[in-house]
Amino acid sequence: MTITDKDQIIRLLAETPAEDVYRMADEVRHNNVGDEVHLRGLIEFSNVCRNDCLYCGLRRSNLAVKRYRMSEDEVIAIARRAADIGFMTIVLQSGEDLYYTRERMCKIIKEIKRLNVAVTLSIGERTADDYRAFRDAGADRYLMRIETTDRDLYHRLDPGMSWQKRYDCLMTIKDLGYELGSGIMVGLPGQTTESIADDLLFLSHIGIDMAGIGPFIPHPATPLANEAGGTLELALRTMAVMRLMMPDINIPATTAMESLHPEGRIMALQAGANVVMPNVNDADYSRLYELYPGKQAAHRSPAIGRSSIVAKIEAIGRTIGTGQGGHKKKA
Ligand code: 5AD
Repeated sequence: MTITDKDQIIRLLAETPAEDVYRMADEVRHNNVGDEVHLRGLIEFSNVCRNDCLYCGLRRSNLAVKRYRMSEDEVIAIARRAADIGFMTIVLQSGEDLYYTRERMCKIIKEIKRLNVAVTLSIGERTADDYRAFRDAGADRYLMRIETTDRDLYHRLDPGMSWQKRYDCLMTIKDLGYELGSGIMVGLPGQTTESIADDLLFLSHIGIDMAGIGPFIPHPATPLANEAGGTLELALRTMAVMRLMMPDINIPATTAMESLHPEGRIMALQAGANVVMPNVNDADYSRLYELYPGKQAAHRSPAIGRSSIVAKIEAIGRTIGTGQGGHKKKA
C-alpha cells in the first residue's frame, strides 16, 4: 500500500483516528527499515544567522541572543569525542553563517571524515560551488528543510528569502550525489491540512532520503510569539502519514516533538520514526541554540545523553543501528 492520493492523505491527516495511523506507520517502519534506530551526533557549531525567519529564535533581529561561533578545532574535537562514544554519523548544523567559508568548512569536513563517520551538513543555502567543494571534501548527506511548499506562506515567514532558490539548492545538492534530507514544520500560522498534504507529496516527488517533521513552537522573542503553534498530535500524524507514503526513508524523531512532551521522541519512534539526533555539544552552547522555547538542552556530557536515549530505545524493544544508517532504497 503506497499512498499517492491527496484526498486519502488529507483523510489520514485529519479524520482517521490518530492511534490507527500511528499503528499502521509503525508496522510499515518495521517491515521496511526494521527495528534499528540510527543515532546521529548533532553539533550546533554556530548560532549566528544572516536570515530573519519570523518563527526562529535565532533570527538576526533577535538581539537578545548571545551569539557564538566554535573554532574549527573545537568542532573537530567535539566530533572526535562523539565518534569515540559510538556515533557513526556526525551532523554539523549552524545558522546561515558565512564566517564558515568554503575553506573553513572543507577543513572541518576532511578532519571529521578521518574518524570514519558519515558527515551530514545542515548549514543552509550556499552556492553550487560550495556544495560541490563540501561534497569533494567528503560530506555524505545534507539536511535542509523546505519548511512549507506554500510559496506565499514561505515568503511571509522568511522575508528576504526565495522559495524557488531554496528548491534549487535542494536539487543541486541531490545532483551532487548527497543523500538529501528535508522536511517541514506543521502548525504554522495560516497553514492548512491541504497544504501539509501538498508538502508530503512534494517530499515524495523529489525523492528525499530523509525527512523530519517538527511542530512549530512559538518563540517569545519573535513576531510569532502569540501564535498557537503546532500540536504533538499533528506532528506525529504528519510524520506517520509520511512513513506510509515513503516506506523506506529515514525519519527522525525530532527534538521539537520532545519539547512538547517529555517522551515525544519515543512516541515518534513508535509512529514511524527510525532516527534520533542527540545533541553532542556542551550544555553551555546548546542553551544558546534556542530555535524555539523548551528546546531540550544537551546533557552535561554527551556520553550520559547517549546512554539515556539508548536505554529508552532498548526499553521499547528496538536496537541501536550498527552501521552508518544511510538510506537503503527498496526496489
Ligand atoms: N519551532 C519549531 N521549529 C523551528 N525551527 C526553527 N524555528 C522553529 C520553531 N519556532 C526549525 C526549522 C529549521 C530547523 C533548524 O528548526 O524547521 O529548518
